[in-house]
Amino acid sequence: MLSYRHGFHAGNFADVFKHVVLTMLLQALARKERPYVYVDTHAGAGRYDLHSEAARKHREFMSGIARVWGERGAPAPVAAYLDAVAALNGGAARTATRGAAPRWYPGSPRIARHLLRRGDRMVLGELHSSEVPLLQREFAGERCVQVVRGDGYHLLKSHLPPVERRGMVLIDPSYERREEIGHVAAGLREGHRRWATGTYAIWYPVMPKVPAAALHRRVIAAGLPKMLCAELCVLPDDSPLGMNGAGMIIVHPPYRLDIELRQVLPWLHRRLAVGDQGRTDVRWLVPE
Ligand SMILES: C[S@@+](CC[C@H](N)C(=O)[O-])C[C@H]1O[C@@H](n2cnc3c(N)ncnc32)[C@H](O)[C@@H]1O
Repeated sequence: MLSYRHGFHAGNFADVFKHVVLTMLLQALARKERPYVYVDTHAGAGRYDLHSEAARKHREFMSGIARVWGERGAPAPVAAYLDAVAALNGGAARTATRGAAPRWYPGSPRIARHLLRRGDRMVLGELHSSEVPLLQREFAGERCVQVVRGDGYHLLKSHLPPVERRGMVLIDPSYERREEIGHVAAGLREGHRRWATGTYAIWYPVMPKVPAAALHRRVIAAGLPKMLCAELCVLPDDSPLGMNGAGMIIVHPPYRLDIELRQVLPWLHRRLAVGDQGRTDVRWLVPE
């Protein structure tokens, strides 16, 4: 029984971090002309209404997208991400009102769809019976988008390797289940066995309940080469309040992503941190 619904959290600081990194990964794929595939194992609904009751319950977007919306002079990857948000709101990011929040927030599939070029395609997995119809409706009639209902980890068997032989997989579970870390590591091993040259990005929360060190150990033990880790924390790691930060593990990252992340994350941290708390970190879990 799945209880997590992303609509309660859409546009929070962890989404901003994740979607900026996703933008950087997709922009890197677009540096070459050959088409790529984007696989999203835990896609969610695709778009979120920040005026909805769910979003307004905790107003998490106010400490996320609202802190960067309307920012002038953001680093290029953040500006590209803000363009993707603006595209869903019928306007240009440069005309957005600073400090306000947009009405619509794009989930990872919408961010990716914004960046996809003619000839690229995407495959979206989602298990929740309420989210699947929303996702299907969001991309109805789009031939470059395939929505697959079911366990997203199966996509790592059924859809890999892709015919394009270029692209990336986003693994973005809600970590509701104790065994999720094991599923992530097993999925990654399976995906990499089938498609060793793909880029894999795994999102995780930094919070006492989900031990990031255990996730790192499990994915390192999977024995894959070149694994980068980026974290952005808005509170001290051991704060008992809830989610203190978020991280991404990137297997087979694009050239210079580590350098670019070291430039972008401090900028994001200055906007998203609670006071001057928290930290950013970019390091190799498995060196180049
Ligand atoms: C964190 S949300 C995804 C957010 C989305 N990737 C984004 O960035 O906009 C996790 C999603 O995974 C879904 N989910 C949970 N377990 C799943 C599974 N085994 N396979 C596919 N989807 C699953 C949940 O219903 C939820 O919509």
